[in-house]
Amino acid sequence: MGKNELLNPTQIGNWHLKTKIVMAPMTRSFANNNTGTVGEDIVNYYRRRAKDGIGLIITEGIIPSPRGKGTFGVPGLYTNSQVDSWRKVTEAIHEEGGKIVAQLWHVGRLTHRELTGGFPPQAPSPIKADGLVHRLRKPYDTPEEMSLEDIKEVIKEYISAARNAMKAGFDGVEIHGAHGYLIDQFNSEITNKRTDEYGGDLLNRLSFIKEVLKAVIKEVGKDKTIIRFSEIKDDIPGYRWANPEENIKAFIQVFNEVGIQIIHPSTNHFTEKVSNDMTFHQLVRKYWDGIIIGVGNLNPEIASKAIKEGTIDLAAFGRSLIANPDFVHKIKEGRPLKSYQAAIDLKYLY
Ligand SMILES: Cc1cc2nc3c(=O)[nH]c(=O)nc-3n(C[C@H](O)[C@H](O)[C@H](O)COP(=O)(O)O)c2cc1C
Repeated sequence: MGKNELLNPTQIGNWHLKTKIVMAPMTRSFANNNTGTVGEDIVNYYRRRAKDGIGLIITEGIIPSPRGKGTFGVPGLYTNSQVDSWRKVTEAIHEEGGKIVAQLWHVGRLTHRELTGGFPPQAPSPIKADGLVHRLRKPYDTPEEMSLEDIKEVIKEYISAARNAMKAGFDGVEIHGAHGYLIDQFNSEITNKRTDEYGGDLLNRLSFIKEVLKAVIKEVGKDKTIIRFSEIKDDIPGYRWANPEENIKAFIQVFNEVGIQIIHPSTNHFTEKVSNDMTFHQLVRKYWDGIIIGVGNLNPEIASKAIKEGTIDLAAFGRSLIANPDFVHKIKEGRPLKSYQAAIDLKYLY
């Protein structure tokens, strides 16, 4: 049996990655809830994964503004003290020869004014989500429809958070355009009922993601920007696109127009067929020649095979990396992986 493809180093633009293993972005709620700064526990948590040999770490979702916050203990990148606290993380990762990008995450309507400094949540249209806010356990608030001014303001917040990410020493940023959060609320016919240039048909609804990407790429460069997008929505279980291939084509048209190079299509089930006997990532690959990060209940064998077949270039692992801080060594040494147990593994940072 040959060496697992995941363990090979690779060059992605200017990033030299020790392995093709990516740590998927995962909210852990261990940041200071009042200041949005990260502490020594978080430095050590990420350092341990970089030391193990993870090629690229994508951080937990980081908010570009207080109104983007959807649960407790979420870090930010909008104050100097937040930037200084993240610098300790990026320095640790670089000392271990790793790379780290900051995931920028605005939850849009999926929150409550008790988390957003007393302001109503922001969204493309004033449509309340069903369900309860994460950990706060109160029904989602009715959001405020964003005016054209608000849209400009939020794009500026993304630019400023991306600039702060560079000041903090990150190797890049990932824009969270997936899972039913703010950007995806613009993308979707369910949450976007606007009649201006940000609403209407699919390409119009994608105007917001396009403008955010253009602005962030202008700020940090296309070699330092990743976009995450998905069909799945955290607040609407089982949500499906009526025509997955048409949706994917529209997203990729936008990605080509803005010149992005690395995309992170997100699904929870990598091997599931979504249309015409093809998986989500196979459909994306049909239209996209650039870098693809695969994800979704991957194991090392499935991931290695998908890289060898050319479906994806890098493979992201989420829950198994929480449960196994020594994931890379376990693969190298052929040791079994510990299975993830949310009730235990989410309680501590190790
Ligand atoms: C505890 C936890 C927190 C997560 N937080 C985020 C997040 O902040 N941003 C994001 O894009 N995805 C988030 N996800 C989704 C993961 O990035 C990943 O896509 C998902 O867990 C599927 O990968 P896996 O099957 O390897 O765990 C989270 C997942 C878990 C389990």
